[in-house]
Amino acid sequence: MGGMTNLLAIDDVADDLSSILEWAIIFKGDEEVAPSFTPLDGISIGSIYEKPSTRTRVSFEVGINKLGGYPLTLLKGDIQLGKSETIGDTAMVLSRYLGAITYRCYDHSDVVELADKSSVPVINALSYKNHPCQAAADLMTIMEHKDDLSEVKIAWVGDGNNVLHDLMLAGVIMGCDVCWAVPKGYEPDADIVERAQKLAEKSGATLSETNDPVEAVKNADVIYTDVFISMGEEDLLDKVNAFEGFQINDKLVSHAKDDYIFMHCLPAHRGEEVTDSVIDSDNSVVFDQAENRMWAQMSLLTYLIDNEAWLTYAELMEY
Ligand code: CP
Ligand code: NVA
Repeated sequence: MGGMTNLLAIDDVADDLSSILEWAIIFKGDEEVAPSFTPLDGISIGSIYEKPSTRTRVSFEVGINKLGGYPLTLLKGDIQLGKSETIGDTAMVLSRYLGAITYRCYDHSDVVELADKSSVPVINALSYKNHPCQAAADLMTIMEHKDDLSEVKIAWVGDGNNVLHDLMLAGVIMGCDVCWAVPKGYEPDADIVERAQKLAEKSGATLSETNDPVEAVKNADVIYTDVFISMGEEDLLDKVNAFEGFQINDKLVSHAKDDYIFMHCLPAHRGEEVTDSVIDSDNSVVFDQAENRMWAQMSLLTYLIDNEAWLTYAELMEY
């Protein structure tokens, strides 16, 4: 890796994604070396939040701590960015103190602007368009549960949103076939699909789309859904009506392979996009996903901030 890398979407690290995730899996299971591996010693990481968060906030704070760094959580209402200071000035000021900045925002252009003006790596901690940290944890979780990713079919049922965007990109980078079923009018962004198509050509994976949840789920190894109403869309009261028939329930999952895994980025609206019977079933890996946010981000943070340390650990583990 040469120069500074930002993580705005998961394909920013396409070439090394597989190693980043393997690193995370080994690190997670390493009780000997990992506890004393502190590449972020003396480094502070700031995390700006314009929206609420449980997993992202806690997994970054705890993960940074485990790597010897100091996490600062900056809620938008408490910093000048929420009032009159520009994103650019905020980026240039924070770059003087911090080793990296994570940013959860509304408009994707805001995290792009922060990254443009920042002299330290910027990680997108969710924008309307992308959620790369989630996709890293998701593919790590699939790797833990499925042996050969080139044989895996991921079925997305729901909204064509930020989580689908990065899942689609990460999925095809890792060689998985990705099929999404969305209601008409809720398709993923065309530019993301185009990027995913190019990556799929390289890996040999396939992409497909449908409006029929049963078709998507047929023979799937992974079934994934997310809320129908994302943060910031709370006023779109009618949106939920478009998703009739898109609930993940016992009937729908009966079309998948017997050993399918159910995934959800959480938080879930139980009874809406998924029934309790599915999310609480033995096939559900949603809490593994939540845990893996921390391990995947620890690998990403080390990779982006101290690539040499990341490589040293990788060599040490001879993976
Ligand atoms: N999945 C996810 O990003 O959760 P939070 O909104 O709780 O961070
Ligand atoms: N699509 C959801 C994901 C939450 C983690 C949202 O943007 O609110």
